Amino acid sequence: MSTTTPIEPHLTHRERVRAAGLSGDYWYPAMWSGDLKKGEVKEVVFWKESIAVYRGDDGVVRAIEDRCAHRHVKMSLGVVQGCDLACGYHGWQFDGGGECTKIPHEVRTKNRPDIRVGSFPVTEKYGIVWVFPGDPEKAQLSALPHMEPVEKNWATIPVDYVVKCHHSMIVENVCDFYHEFLHRDYRPFASARFTGIDTTDDSVEVRYETKIGGGPFVKYFADSGSVNLNTIKLWYEYPFQRSDIDGKYLHWLFLRPIDEQTTHIFYVFTFKSFKLPFVKATLPRWLQQPVMALANKLYVQPVLGQDNWIMEAEQVAHNRHGGRPSFEFNPFVPKAQQLTMKKWDEYEASLKKRVSTTKKAGRATESPSAASLQVAE
Ligand code: FES
Ligand SMILES: [Fe+2]
Repeated sequence: MSTTTPIEPHLTHRERVRAAGLSGDYWYPAMWSGDLKKGEVKEVVFWKESIAVYRGDDGVVRAIEDRCAHRHVKMSLGVVQGCDLACGYHGWQFDGGGECTKIPHEVRTKNRPDIRVGSFPVTEKYGIVWVFPGDPEKAQLSALPHMEPVEKNWATIPVDYVVKCHHSMIVENVCDFYHEFLHRDYRPFASARFTGIDTTDDSVEVRYETKIGGGPFVKYFADSGSVNLNTIKLWYEYPFQRSDIDGKYLHWLFLRPIDEQTTHIFYVFTFKSFKLPFVKATLPRWLQQPVMALANKLYVQPVLGQDNWIMEAEQVAHNRHGGRPSFEFNPFVPKAQQLTMKKWDEYEASLKKRVSTTKKAGRATESPSAASLQVAE
């Protein structure tokens, strides 16, 4: 169960947004599937809560609380034993459900207590390991994002890294097409004009007219003949973000908040077609992945590097000036912030309810993370 610290009531609206987490009752990316080999364990943090994610010798991924029930050493420092995870200190072994299955040393008591730690729903799809950090009973009801282009084997560019800023700054950055000045040399988009916004209970959709991909390198490959590169739709589809250019260039951006100022982001860019420079032909399939790798190095990484640089600067600026008034002209920003706060308030209320139910059932000590949960009374 994630721990939350109540947001101070005297904060300004913007300070409250920048202190909010993302609801744990959704699936979040832990890592790329290929980064967790059989017999490996890794620490994954969701909103200040550490999770030990490991792949058993049977190839199945499991996720348990990153805390040994003995002396609270991190389980992610341990070793995989078959389908269990053994703590690195005295070797206590836990299964994927968090139950202690073995103590490999002398136990001087006849009635060994039932020993367990928390566990988390975990699954794999689209080459990503997903964890569900919230109420496990809600995991079945929460769908993974549907990434049809990945199922259809389009050319893709997966990119992940940690950014030292709040998750809301990232969503606002990606959905705000007014910041072309930052990218004036690479020109991923130009002359943007806001054309509309729609909201639902779970999403904000924003649309722009703009000129996509006119910058160096990409202009030779972008298939302007068969792809309309003059409009884009972007969504904050809580808790992730995505975009669509003419149904042919689509991206997904998954955010795993680590704390108020650190976010691990996972981008999946997908492309239906790219053309060969100076000729009319589209790229043959065998050439797509090498070209994607080149595009990533020469174009995507430098552009995203500019965004990271400015978002981290925004976080520093927010820490210094967050309480001061500011001006905002993009209609997307306040809508996205409202959605973030609504979902966070709902999640905090549901956590509070879970804790009181656990206490009433007299099980508070069984779940130490629940017992240490700080919720405003
Ligand atoms: S601290 Fe984990 S087995 Fe002792
Ligand atoms: Fe940008």
